[in-house]
Amino acid sequence: MKILMVCLGNICRSPIAEGILQDIIDTKGLDWQVDSAGTGNWHVGNAPDGRAVETAKNHGVLIQHQKARQFSTRDFANFDLILAMDRSNYKDIIKLASSPADKEKVRLILEYSRSLEQDVPDPYWDDDGFEKVYHLLKDACDLLVGHYSSELINSKKI
Ligand code: 4NP
Repeated sequence: MKILMVCLGNICRSPIAEGILQDIIDTKGLDWQVDSAGTGNWHVGNAPDGRAVETAKNHGVLIQHQKARQFSTRDFANFDLILAMDRSNYKDIIKLASSPADKEKVRLILEYSRSLEQDVPDPYWDDDGFEKVYHLLKDACDLLVGHYSSELINSKKI
């Protein structure tokens, strides 16, 4: 499985999502890859926002080494699953899709969580929002791994 986490700036939500999923991949020894990107280009090359780094670190997840990049149409070919943090990111990614197969790969990450919310709230303008974002994403990543691990075992792909 190759999974791409996508938000707007690639400095707050998707780096935390990448870090959480990478941590689960490492702990479980899964043959999966995860990366993240932003639909916007303002922060390309930057490390994640310090508040995202701090929040993730408080939960044992290290993301300081990540560098922001912009989502590219090549990502449709390079990833099996493209997970948008909110409906606005979802629409922006779908606009770049060139086939039904591309569109099929795009999902809202909270579809996998137990939350009734559809959007991971953008914490950029809200210092207190990072902890909530972490917990929403942790729940979604845990359930996502459970979902695809059992699907792959059932289809004997692993
Ligand atoms: P993210 O948060 O999409 O979770 O990385 C944001 C980061 C930066 C901006 C907006 C959202 N910005 O407008 O610069």
